[in-house]
Amino acid sequence: MALREIIILPDKRLREISKPVAEVTSEIRKLADDMFESMYDAPGIGLAAIQIAEPVRLITMDLVRKEGNGASEPRAFINPEVIGSSAELNIYEEGCLSIPEYYAEVERPKTVRIRYTDLDGNVKEEDADGLFATCIQHEIDHLNGVLFVDHISKLKKAMVVRKFEKAAKRGIKYV
Ligand code: NI
Repeated sequence: MALREIIILPDKRLREISKPVAEVTSEIRKLADDMFESMYDAPGIGLAAIQIAEPVRLITMDLVRKEGNGASEPRAFINPEVIGSSAELNIYEEGCLSIPEYYAEVERPKTVRIRYTDLDGNVKEEDADGLFATCIQHEIDHLNGVLFVDHISKLKKAMVVRKFEKAAKRGIKYV
């Protein structure tokens, strides 16, 4: 496993459309290992491969692990897609490892049905609710070059984007 650098706004690679994984190879499993290590180190609850500059459709997630509680539920989603969503919406305060220290409320479908491939190559379908629904939709957005700030007001988005552009110009790195 290797700790990888997480790219941050306004890095243009965050806008790339990630490519589907054709086959679950040892390289993909190694990439997932690197993503788990980088995600836990940050710390964060979800990470898309593009956030470590790998434009492939792979997401890691752990909604259970908290510092010191010893619990852990690492999950990887390959080629994940939303195949159904509830009309009912839900609002969660979201953050993103690629937009450090910024949080905003985002409205999304409350529940979604997803299809994905796991690290053993099995195709699965599952219903996601609550934080899981929010997180998987946020991460799938990353695979399509979409960031959570694309879902907030234009004014708020312009303010946060400008803040990160200024910081990048001054060479400040949020780590
Ligand atoms: Ni994110």
